[in-house]
Order: sequence, then C-alpha cells, then structure tokens
Amino acid sequence: MITVNNLSLRYGKRILFDDVNLKFTSGNCYGIIGANGAGKSTFLKILQGDVDPTTGQVTFSKGMRLAVLKQNHFEFDQIPVMQTVLMGHKTLWAVMQEREAIYAKSDFSEEDGVRAGELENTFGEMDGWNAESSAAELLSNLGIKESLHTKLMKELDGNQKVRVLLAQALFGNPDILFLDEPTNDLDVQTINWLEDFLADYQGIILVVSHDRHFLDAVCTNVVDIDYSKMTIYSGNYSFWYQSSQLVAKQKADSNKKAEDRIRELQDFIRRFSANASKSRQATSRKKALDKINLEDIKPSSRKYPGLQFNNVNREAGNEILSVENLSKTVNGEVLFKNVNFSVKKGDKIAVLGHSIAVSAFLAILAGEDKEYKGNFTWGVTTSVANIPNDNTRFFEGVDLNLIDWLRQFSPEEKDETFIRGFFGRMLFSGEEVLKNCGVLSGGEKMRCMFSRMMLMRANVLVFDEPTNHLDLESITALNNGMSDFKGTILFTSRDHELVETIANRVIEITPKGMIDKEMDFDEFIKSERVAEQRAELLKSK
Ligand SMILES: Nc1ncnc2c1ncn2[C@@H]1O[C@H](COP(=O)(O)OP(=O)(O)O)[C@@H](O)[C@H]1O
Ligand SMILES: [Mg+2]
Repeated sequence: MITVNNLSLRYGKRILFDDVNLKFTSGNCYGIIGANGAGKSTFLKILQGDVDPTTGQVTFSKGMRLAVLKQNHFEFDQIPVMQTVLMGHKTLWAVMQEREAIYAKSDFSEEDGVRAGELENTFGEMDGWNAESSAAELLSNLGIKESLHTKLMKELDGNQKVRVLLAQALFGNPDILFLDEPTNDLDVQTINWLEDFLADYQGIILVVSHDRHFLDAVCTNVVDIDYSKMTIYSGNYSFWYQSSQLVAKQKADSNKKAEDRIRELQDFIRRFSANASKSRQATSRKKALDKINLEDIKPSSRKYPGLQFNNVNREAGNEILSVENLSKTVNGEVLFKNVNFSVKKGDKIAVLGHSIAVSAFLAILAGEDKEYKGNFTWGVTTSVANIPNDNTRFFEGVDLNLIDWLRQFSPEEKDETFIRGFFGRMLFSGEEVLKNCGVLSGGEKMRCMFSRMMLMRANVLVFDEPTNHLDLESITALNNGMSDFKGTILFTSRDHELVETIANRVIEITPKGMIDKEMDFDEFIKSERVAEQRAELLKSK
C-alpha cells in the first residue's frame, strides 16, 4: 500500500496540490488524469522521492520495491540491452558494479578481500548468479529475441526499446510500477500488448496517460487532479466520464425525483459492469464497481470545450470525392502509389499507413501539397476544412492577436463578438483572446485551429493527428464533435478510441498500393484477411 497524507506542493504562489490524502492498494491500477500542467508527472516524482513536497508524507508498506518505466527512450542508447535490464534493480546493480571494480584491481588489498566477501554474500542473497538468466527470460517473454540481447539500445526500434525499458522496470519483481505516458510513440500492436500485460499485473500500478483506450483497458480506478485536489474514483476512464456526466445532467434537471436518479445511476453501473466483464481485468474492475457508493459519483467540475461542426454552409450533394491513381514520391522514395477510391456521402474514413505518407496524402487532398501524380476531384458542392499535422505556417511570423488571427478565416462576418464566440467554445476566456498568436502552447494552437475549422463551416473535414497536444477533455470533446458530424470525414489518428468510434471505413496506403475496407478499426487490425492482403501487396512489384 502507498499512503499519502496531507500532501501539498507550492511553486512560489502557485499551489499545485493542496491537502491531498490518498491510499493506493495492491491489485489496482490507477489512471492519473488532469489537464496539461495539472501536476501529474510532479505527483509521480513526489512519490518517488525526486521532488520534496511542501507539506505531508508519503509512506510505502514495508519492503515494497518501486520501479519506474523510463519516459526518455534514448537514455540508455549507448548501453547493451541485457545491461539496461540489469540496471533496473538498483541495489543489485550497485553490488555487481562494486564487485567487478574490486576484482579488476591489480593491487588487491586485504581490505578489498573483506569487502569482496561481503559483496559476494549480498550478491548471493539477491540471487545475483541467476540475474542474467532471469533477465534474459524476461526479455524473451516480452518479445525481445535472444539475438537482440547483446545489441546496443540504439540499434533497436522505438517499439522494441519500450519493451526493454519495461523489462528493466519489471526486473526483480517490483511491487509497484509507475508509468508516465507510456503509449507515446508506440504502434497499436505494442500498445495492445502493453494493455494485456498491465491488465494481468498483480502489484500497484500508477499510470499517467491521455490515451482513453489504454486507460479503459488497464485501469481499475481513476485519480483526477483538478484545481489542486486529487480524488480517486472506482472504475475506468469511460466509467468516470459517463457517470459524472450523468450525475451532472441529473443535477441540472431539477424536476427529477431522487429515486429516479438513483435508479438511472444503478442501471448505468449495471450496464457498464456487464460490458467490463468482457475484459481480462474483469474481476478487479467488477469488484471496484460493485463497491461503488452512489453518493461517491460526483459531477465533474471539468470544463469541456464545445466542438460542433454541423453548422455547415450548405449540405454536400452525392458526389464527394474521387481519387484516381494517386501517388507520391519524395527523393526517389515512393510514399504511396496506385491509390484509387471514391468517397460516399457520410463516409468517415480512417487513413492508415506510414505517418509521413499519410500526412502527404491528406495534405494533397486538402489542397496544401501540389506535388503528386494522378488525379482527384472534389464534388462541386463540397467544401473542405482541414487540421494539418504541422500548423507552423499558420502561426510562425504572424503578428496578430487571437481575434485578428481567426478573423482572417471568416469570409463575411468580421464582428468581434461573433469571433469571440468560437474562442469561448474552445475555452479561451476574456483577456486571453488578446494574446499574440506567436506565444501559444501546442495545445492552444490546436484549439485555435479547431476554432478556424468551426468558423469555416465546411461539409468535408480532414484531420491529420488532431489529438496532438490535446488534453483528455479536448480529445473527448473532439471525439464527440466528430461522431456528431453529419458530413464526410477523412482522418488519421494514433488515438485508438477515436479511430475505433469514428471510422466506418479504413484505407491503408502503402508504397505498393492500397487496402480499402468498409469496417471499423478493431475489425481491420484483427482481420486475418486484411493481414493476408497486406502481405500479398507488399510482396508484389
Ligand atoms: N521546479 C519547478 N518550479 C516551478 N514550477 C514547476 C517546477 N516543476 C514543474 N513546475 C510546474 O508545475 C506544473 C505541473 O507540471 P507537470 O507535473 O509536469 O504537469 P503534467 O504532468 O500534469 O502535465 C507545470 O505548470 C510546471 O510548469
Ligand atoms: Mg506530465
């Protein structure tokens, strides 16, 4: 168990945490959520002892060992894989180092001999003789083949590195595991693998993530950091979001009788836990839900931005887009070729493939990139608004406040109140809209781009990684906006939940051709037929 008592942290005048009291217990996985800068990473650092709190204590049950999945994937680049794993057990690693240093001495003194004896003892007690073989076994279980164990970390690809870093964290069976945004830069297969792995892990897990699919798959509890308070809720992220939305709705409806409210909540929990029972973590999650006290569910005080794209200028006709033999080559390297398809009204298409190829493809269709071969034609009634992967050109060297910045994209209505309305929905308040657009953070720039998209009132939307830099609230709001949109969408995203809930068609583009399926994302990634088709395609000339 980890107990946090009366914890607070201030940086100057700013209060990050105030009087936090929490208990974390074995068998549970806690998903820590909160806006950018709320203090999620700092909280983990306090628990690790890397940051001193202003007041309060953190206590661990006796003998519990803590391990952390390193966030910096390049930290061990110059170190061999096997050694990287061994370094995970700090005390054992220190003993091994000292022992080696003593034996390497040419003038081996009597004192050295005594010390060496002590070290041999500790080494034996820690099962040091088996360390390498158990590290090797762990690596192999995590899908890192023996031929890689002697390679340097820098020779591995990003997905393999994370597996090694996880082996490092798990080496020596820690009782507690911390992970700070572990799914960043991982492919969907590795994320799925990590989800399964963590769902079966018996110790205490604390994880920070913006990935809702991941949070839902692994968490038994949600820890919400909001206005310097921290609260633990039972259930995973979806449960937290939907139940707190439901309670907020019930509160707003003053006519509703108390019994009706309770019945509605109970129904909701029953339905939710029935769904949860499909997952591997069913038992502990079910237990958590069974224990829920209805009064414990509180309406969220979080503000969600409002992303609505349905106020289109005109509805599109039936001709949306037809693409013929589209291909692109950069410096002799084929990004994609032979792309042929036509878009039906209401298609919501997820585009998969190498991220550079997909970005180029979407930029071409959005009219931003003119370098390509082949043809594509948009229907005469269509209008397109896009969120590009790189929005630098919209902001760099542009000396405008936010109001004037957005006004550029409004063809008719230039009135300030009208323009401010779009920022209001994106949670920019009062004075904030007078900031210069050059000083914005990544997340703020994205919110400006969404304001622009809403203002353009297009009937076709193109998104290239729209969840970049967004916090969970904004991702959820974007997801809702894209679901509700009645027009056509072409998009790519690494957010599993977003792709799974939006796409009704998946197109994968490759240097050898394309795959085009009317199915949802989970079906697509699990389909053996798709895998065969891809293998055939990649073999072809
Ligand atoms: N040493 C420090 N001095 C002052 N402010 C800091 C320090 N370390 C972090 N902060 C601030 O504390 C806030 C919380 O940071 P962090 O824990 O990284 O947020 P999160 O992980 O939730 O995005 C940020 O606004 C950050 O700028
Ligand atoms: Mg952080």
